[in-house]
Amino acid sequence: MSYGLLLSLHLLAAIAFAGTVFFEVVMLEGVRRYVPHEAMRAVERAIGNRAVRIMPWALLTLYAAGIGLAWRYRAALSQPFSSSFSLLLTLKIALAASVLAHFSMAMIWRRRGTLGSRRSRRLHLSVFCHVLAIVLLAKGMFYLRW
Ligand code: HEM
Repeated sequence: MSYGLLLSLHLLAAIAFAGTVFFEVVMLEGVRRYVPHEAMRAVERAIGNRAVRIMPWALLTLYAAGIGLAWRYRAALSQPFSSSFSLLLTLKIALAASVLAHFSMAMIWRRRGTLGSRRSRRLHLSVFCHVLAIVLLAKGMFYLRW
């Protein structure tokens, strides 16, 4: 598969994933106090069910394309401290691995029925911060030099 196609898939999947997290953390949290508690819970449950069906595919595309892209930079990744680019890319991938760990924990808690709304909110906020840092690193690694 061509590098351009992999990069486009990676970017589209990143938009789907980051956009969903942004919607949940910024938009949904912002309307919470204007919507009756029961209605909000029903909406959250419906969005959660939808996310469980869609997100695994977006994540699969995002990570598979990411690994394909990273193959081109394998020499830089084998020496993470050799340049600013290597370090920033390594950090980006480490944060992406942490996002995957968050997602897996959410799935496990959801299946066990222990994903309460407080835990879910903290998890979303943490993933949101991760995604912000990942996107800044993804661009910064090409523009920052030291
Ligand atoms: C939450 C997960 C991830 C997000 C949100 C994300 C997001 C991004 C974004 C926004 C870009 C910039 C694309 C562009 O400007 O065209 C990028 C580039 C890149 N990502 Fe990711 N990424 C994620 C996971 C990964 C993983 C797991 C890997 C590798 C194992 C990876 C490897 C790369 C590489 C190598 C580039 C540079 C591609 C290039 O421009 O040559 N990413 N990523």
